Formats: sequence, C-alpha cells, structure tokens
Amino acid sequence: MAQKRGRILSGMRPTGKLHLGNWEGALRQWVALQDDYECFYEIADWHALTTAWEDTTQLRQNIRDLAIDWLSAGLDPNRCVLFVQSWVPEHAELHLLLSMLVPVSWLELNPTYKEWLQEGKAPNYGLLGYPVLQAADILIYKADTVPVGKDQLPHLEMTREIVRRFNRLYGDVFPEPQALLSEFPYVPGIDGRKMSKSYDNHIHLADPPEVVRQKVSVFFTDPHKIRRNDPGRPEICPVFALHNIYNRVEVAEIATDCRLGKLGCVACKQRLAERLNEALEPLRQRRAELERHPSELDDILAEGSRKARQVAQGTMEEVRAAMQLWSPITATVSQS
Ligand code: TRP
Repeated sequence: MAQKRGRILSGMRPTGKLHLGNWEGALRQWVALQDDYECFYEIADWHALTTAWEDTTQLRQNIRDLAIDWLSAGLDPNRCVLFVQSWVPEHAELHLLLSMLVPVSWLELNPTYKEWLQEGKAPNYGLLGYPVLQAADILIYKADTVPVGKDQLPHLEMTREIVRRFNRLYGDVFPEPQALLSEFPYVPGIDGRKMSKSYDNHIHLADPPEVVRQKVSVFFTDPHKIRRNDPGRPEICPVFALHNIYNRVEVAEIATDCRLGKLGCVACKQRLAERLNEALEPLRQRRAELERHPSELDDILAEGSRKARQVAQGTMEEVRAAMQLWSPITATVSQS
C-alpha cells in the first residue's frame, strides 16, 4: 500500500437501485481509483435515515442492493474496503464531538438543507447535522481525497472548515481533504431530463435485457422527427446522448444518418438497446454469481466493516487524547 497516491473515502446512501447516471457519474470512477489509492467506500445508512427514518423496513434490503450494484460494477473487496456506516459506530462518536465545533448558522446555510425547507418539509435535528456526520465519515479515516459530484462540494467545504477548527483547538490530527471532481458525460433519462432517482426516468444497472429494450423503446427523441425519414437533431436527442456513451463505434454514422433522415428512431433505439445490453452483460454475470451465494455478501460487508472499524478506532483514540477525553475503558482499546 505504500506506493498509493493517498486515501480515498466516498459514500452513497442506500435508497434504491443504482441507474446509468450513478454508473457514469460516480461508480466508474470509483472502480478506476481502486488501484491508485487506498479506497474506503461507505454505505451511508445513517445518512439515509435523515430523510427516511419513519419506515425502515426496506433499509436492510437497500443496503444489500447497493452492495450488489457496487460489486457487480467492479468494486473489488480485495482491492478496496467496502463497509456499512452503522456497522462502524465510532462514526457516531466523532459526529458528536465535531458537532460542538459547528455553529448552527453554518448548517442553516447548507444548500441541501435550504432546499428541504423550501419544499415546505419540516427538517429534523439529524438532517441539520447531515454535513457533520459526513465530515465524521471522511475524517475518521483521515481521507485526503473525496471523489464526489458537484452537489457535495458544500459538504466538503464544511468538512475542511471543521478540520481547521479542530486542528487549531486540539492540535494537528486531521488532514484537509480535497474533492476529486471528474468529467463525466451527461446521462439523460427516459423523459429527456437528467436521469435521476426522483424523476422515475431511469434504466437500472439491474434491469434485465428485455426491460432495457422496453425502456429504450419509450425514450424521448427529437420531437420534430415524427416520421422515419424526417431529418433529426442528434444534439438535442436523449437517445443520441446515450449512443455517445455506449456506442462509440457507430456514433458518428448515427449522427449523419439521423440528420439525413436515413435512420428512423425505432431502428436507432434498437441499436442502442443492443449496445447497452452488451455494456451491462458483465455486470449481470457478476450479479448472478453474487445472488447464487447470498451469505457471501454479508461476509464481504462484515469483513470490510471490520477493517474500517480498526482504522476508525485508531483515529478515535487520537481524537480522545487530543481533546483530553480519557476513560479507563476506551483507553485500553487496542489498535491491532
Ligand atoms: N452525502 C453523500 C450523497 O448523498 C453520501 C455520503 C455520505 C458521502 N458520507 C459521505 C459522500 C462521505 C462522500 C463522503 O451522495
């Protein structure tokens, strides 16, 4: 591990099956980072509770679904640490300690929180503290690099503020983590808007071939291209945007033929569905393998969480010492 470029932590909330937007926007990058960095990837189940605490009946299944999506997309438990947030309860202790350093006014300015208020929802205490819990997730592993989307930058900025305060008050314990933003292609959904869980316009990584074909067949296209021979505008067509990702070989020819009115939308969609199914095939094979051995999934998460916990416990010993919190019980926790 000595030659690695640094330590990464990132996470996702277990709120349902992943779609192509999650794959292109995050997972592909996570998979690629596994060899260059020491990677910790977290299933943030406590974060999921901040908005979905009332009905927890799906939580266990959602954790399993997310883990299967991750593994099928190529996260490899031999090359990274895959763990469940609540299985490493030290996160809660660090969250509590960090919460003392965070003015409520910072949290009230957090864009995600403000959106919640604008929607007229009544926020709870846990939701207000969401960024502090996220800071604890990152800092308990002393991660220096955090691959996230732009929407998460305010959370990361708050993490950095917290680090500066903590280190100034109690001595240098934490590094200031940096965001790792990557370029990724625009992934439209069935209705032409951004593919998103909240729009119900997605293709799931877990969709079988016939479902992919069916969903692609109802995708929005250029509304001016009504008949097969009408010239189309690939630059505004959601189906073309997906060809651009999953059909690199034919994409130029498809653009030309669409503009010339030589390629109809039905045939164009069929070609896309085939390419998409080819891209998803390796994921399906790994998924089938995992589903044949359901207990192995729990073993992977338990083993990952055990590894994560060892690191987290080591950091907590340092944090308690830095903050002059001594107890005859916690002081004896061994780091091995
Ligand atoms: N808030 C992140 C999201 O909604 C998930 C998350 C939880 C996370 N803890 C994290 C991301 C730590 C990066 C680092 O996507």
